[in-house]
Amino acid sequence: MSTSALLAPWHTLLKFHHDPLGMLLRYGQSPEPVVPIRLGRWTLNLVTGPAEVGQVLSRHVQYYHKGPGMDRENPLIGRGLLLSETPRWETSRRILKEEFLPTAVQAQRVPMRRIIENQLDQWHDGTVNVAEQLILLTAQVAIQTLFDFPTENAAMTSVIDASQDLMMFFYRRSRSFFRPQYGMPWPMNRKYWSAAKPLTGFAERIYARRAETSAKLPALLEQLPSDERLAQIVTLLIAGHETTANALSWTLYLLARHQEAQNLARTDPEWLEAVIKESLRLYPPVWLLSRVSLEPVTLGSYPLPKDAPILVSPWVNHRLERYWERPEAFLPQRWIGRPPLPPFLYFPFGGGQRSCIGETFAHQEMVITLSLILARWTLEFASRDDVLPLPLLSLKPKNGVWIRLASRSGALG
Ligand code: HEM
Repeated sequence: MSTSALLAPWHTLLKFHHDPLGMLLRYGQSPEPVVPIRLGRWTLNLVTGPAEVGQVLSRHVQYYHKGPGMDRENPLIGRGLLLSETPRWETSRRILKEEFLPTAVQAQRVPMRRIIENQLDQWHDGTVNVAEQLILLTAQVAIQTLFDFPTENAAMTSVIDASQDLMMFFYRRSRSFFRPQYGMPWPMNRKYWSAAKPLTGFAERIYARRAETSAKLPALLEQLPSDERLAQIVTLLIAGHETTANALSWTLYLLARHQEAQNLARTDPEWLEAVIKESLRLYPPVWLLSRVSLEPVTLGSYPLPKDAPILVSPWVNHRLERYWERPEAFLPQRWIGRPPLPPFLYFPFGGGQRSCIGETFAHQEMVITLSLILARWTLEFASRDDVLPLPLLSLKPKNGVWIRLASRSGALG
């Protein structure tokens, strides 16, 4: 084998780290439903066929575990819903699900709206990085709605900083060749512990206050094993705020760039729904799902061995020309009056057994937040440069989203 052939997979690994969104999309162009990608000494399998995606996501418990980058050994959230596996996961999901059922989320509508209004009362006319403001807003919504835990914005900011440091740690660790055990005195681990400690302290305070709150979730946590409760609080805080904040930031970005869609979304709830769907299509905050096979599996007609790393990407499936007309364009109207799509073409909240527990919660939060913002302000995009997606664990707008907010005459605010 020539030297360049030997180097090729390593070259691909560097390219993957440099531009994962572009590279996955290029691999996704292959008509094959499963595409092997050689990265260094690993072969990742990108699954793009909707039937095969369905096979992976719907048969998780039996055939798969969470894959590369999803670290079940993590002392802080390894036992939480996002990372744990059966049998622990099945019990916790059954118990916690109760507070995320549509009826339970709907019952939180009024308090959720009040929390959002309180946050928006602190926004002002002028040019604002909405991405930054929305992180605070969504963190407050998650903590106050789920746990009825009142926190000043200033205190919340330090929790948010710790949770962002933690996300960055997970992201770096997922890309690192060397993953030291958490107890090892390693520089990367020091960063981890300095983020994990304040989050654990915060979760402890939330749990300690459970008898004084009217929220149901803290009481549900009592039914879980004691070594898991704080993990679930931190998981819900982490999984429940940055994703929604990014989804809202991308939506405001798109609305600020498309005045006609902005006007329609302001007055027509069907349009607002279509805008949300289209925003989650173009910029799915969870852009990559990873799995590993527990035994040999056959996806469609494609055999994979045990321990095969598998990638499923909403980013890729939402942007393939074979599934979408003008996939790169923002066209909310494509959703209006449309019959339901075939399954696993569009899955911003994942699917199957490990689908997002917070989908209804996030949707309600997005509808309320966007309606209130659109009622108070007109939005105008305020950057010279376009906003690029930054694919960390969640798909962030690189350098934020700068928008000029102008009060609408006669509106509150
Ligand atoms: C727009 C906002 C959101 C998006 C796009 C999103 C997306 C996702 C996706 C794609 C998954 C599946 C991951 C996988 O299969 O590996 C997931 C799982 C999860 N999400 Fe969300 N999410 C959002 C908001 C929320 C909120 C608001 C909460 C909680 C309040 C939440 C809590 C969770 C949890 C706990 C899991 C793990 C569920 C399990 O495995 O049983 N998410 N989310």
